[in-house]
This record gives sequence, structure tokens and C-alpha cells, in this order.
Amino acid sequence: MPTSSYFTILSNSCLVLLFQAFFISIAASSDRHTPENHIRTRAGAPFKVALFADLHFGENAWTDWGPKQDVNSIKVMSSVLDTETPDFVVYLGDVVTANNIPIANASLYWDQAISPTRSRGIPWASVFGNHDDAPFEWPMEWFAASGIPQLVCPVLNSGEECSFRGTSRLELMKNEMDNNVLSLSKSGPQDLWPGISNYVLQVLSKEKPHTPLVYLYFLDSGGGTYPEVISTAQADWFKHISEEINPDSRVPELIFWHIPSKAYKKVAPKFRIHKPCVGSINKEKVAAQEAEMGIMKILVKRPSVKAVFVGHNHGLDWCCPYGQLWLCFARHTGYGGYGNWARGSRILEINERPFSISSWIRMEDGSVHSEVILS
Ligand SMILES: *[C@@H]1O[C@H](CO)[C@@H](O)[C@H](O)[C@H]1NC(C)=O
Repeated sequence: MPTSSYFTILSNSCLVLLFQAFFISIAASSDRHTPENHIRTRAGAPFKVALFADLHFGENAWTDWGPKQDVNSIKVMSSVLDTETPDFVVYLGDVVTANNIPIANASLYWDQAISPTRSRGIPWASVFGNHDDAPFEWPMEWFAASGIPQLVCPVLNSGEECSFRGTSRLELMKNEMDNNVLSLSKSGPQDLWPGISNYVLQVLSKEKPHTPLVYLYFLDSGGGTYPEVISTAQADWFKHISEEINPDSRVPELIFWHIPSKAYKKVAPKFRIHKPCVGSINKEKVAAQEAEMGIMKILVKRPSVKAVFVGHNHGLDWCCPYGQLWLCFARHTGYGGYGNWARGSRILEINERPFSISSWIRMEDGSVHSEVILS
């Protein structure tokens, strides 16, 4: 263990959380192999996580329609956060639709997307989807009589930088981390580039502060500026780090990335969702990663890995078993992106004694469905 300076932040932005004496401890570390970043559970309470998938902020900002979708997405998140009061939020990729964002101001939309979580004093982590750094696509209507809408450049950028160049994964992540003490996101090891959102967090229980309750692994499944894939280097990184921090597989592990792996195709329900799968919509084909470079083989061999959570397919929200683990879709949370299926959020609840992981989907209108036990 490296020597590191700990600092504990008492979240004081929300009276409710203050009352519950909710602490987040962040430890700064220079050793990337040791997941010093951790979240602490509340005494005697289960640990609850809300997954916000496919928000797609910043769509068609030059129309009235686009900004309205972002307002609607904020309403979905606010409703879920107020009904479930989770301890933690995972932004599961496609936070923004960068192919609609002409200049390097995607972080402004990213910031809007995380604002409902931040304003409630809830810590979060994010992974990238295939739209977050997608290159700008010129709309055909910009070549008609009305022409290109006026570009308002961010103050930070000089006139020259305000050209048709988007915001990179590194910049997005840097902006999130630099400006948010509640963000536990990380720019992962440089040898995993171009994948950026590769890191581990541990959830520590209040009662047993030195034994993690669960490990949360985040992986960048690519897309946008590079192929949709989890590389061999990322798979090796996962294998190495999980064996190092959890050698005997004693601590349960949960995995988060954006694009379903090919294994999701193998377990996908054909028409209706039937046991052992659990879910409510099965409206499209699994749009899987382009290649399988080894991560799934490693995951199925680790008894501690309980489930993988992905977004990407807005018309799917099921969980199906795959070997000893579960492959789950989140639920389309945003009003941006394709599809008009009702919006919601997959919730995870981790109980300590006896240990269990359960999950359900909380809809924007407050209803709940698709409850499933994942451990
Ligand atoms: C980002 O820049 C575009 C182009 O100038 C502008 O239309 C949009 O309002 C900007 N977004 C934000 C959130 O400021």
C-alpha cells in the first residue's frame, strides 16, 4: 500500500445527507494499481446505486426541440433521485451526443447532465459511450438557405480554437474531475488508451471499514473516435488488478461499461422475456461491440463477478444469466437518443448481512418493475 494522504469530505450541500452523516472519503494515490478511491455505506442501510444510461445531452442545440429534451432528461433524473435517494450514481455512457456538438463545449452539456446528482450531494462515477466523443456530423439543413447557425465560443477558448472540433474523452474526463469533488471518475492508466474510463472503486461498509463490501469496475467500451471494443490490454488490466486487490475472490464484484459485449447476444431472449431472464422491454437486437478480445472469458472465470451493466440499446432493459454472472441492460434514462420507450433508471441495492444484490427499474412516473436478485 502506498502512503497517501486521506481527506474526508462531509457533504454539506444537502441537509438530508448531512442529517444522515454521509461521508465520502477520497484518498489520493499515485499508484494506479491500488484503488484508493472509495465510497462508504451509511450505517445500517443498504448501499443503493442508480444507473443513468444514454442521456444524450446536447442534441440539435440549434433547434427548440434539442434543449427541451435535456430539460426532460433532468426531470427523469430528479424524479428517480428523489424517490430512490441512492448513495451513488453511475453515468453509464452516452451522456452527450457529441456528433451534434460542433465546437469543444461538450463539457457544458456534460455538466448539465450531472447537475441533478451533484445538487443533491450524491457522489457519482461515469464511463464513456460511443457518442461522448463522436466527431461532429454536419446537418444537411446547414447547407440550405438559413445556413450555419451562429457559433458562440466558450470563453476559455480563443477564436481559433472555436472551430469544428469536438471535446476529447480526456478533456471531458478532466473537466468532470477538476470541477467536482463528488466525482469519483478517473482517467485510467495511459497504457489503456484510447480507452479512458478504466478504473476501480471500492464500497466500504461503515461497520467494517477495512473490508470492502463490493468492488465496482468501470471499463471504456470504446466507440466514437475509435472502434467499439474492450481491448486485450484492458482485459489484462482487469485480470491483473482484480487478482491483486481481491486475490481469493472473496469480495463480490460488479462491472460497468456502455456497449454490450457479444455475450449479450448469446443470452438475449428471442421474443418475450421469460425466466431466467427478467425485464420489461425486448424491442430490438443487441447492438454488440465489434470484437471480443478476452474480457468475457476472464469475467466468467471469476466467481466474485456478479453482474455486468451496460446501456447503448435503448429498447432493451433485461437481465439474463451467463455462466455464474448476470448480463444486464440499464434503462434508457434520457430524452435524447432514439426511441420513445418510457424513461427510467436501473437501481441496484446491495445488502450487507446477509449479503445480497438486488435490482429493479424505477420509471420516471414512479412505478417499479423487473425486480431481480443478482446474487
Ligand atoms: C455550445 O456551442 C454551440 C455552438 O455555438 C451553441 O449553440 C450551444 O448553445 C453551446 N452550448 C452550451 C451548453 O453553451
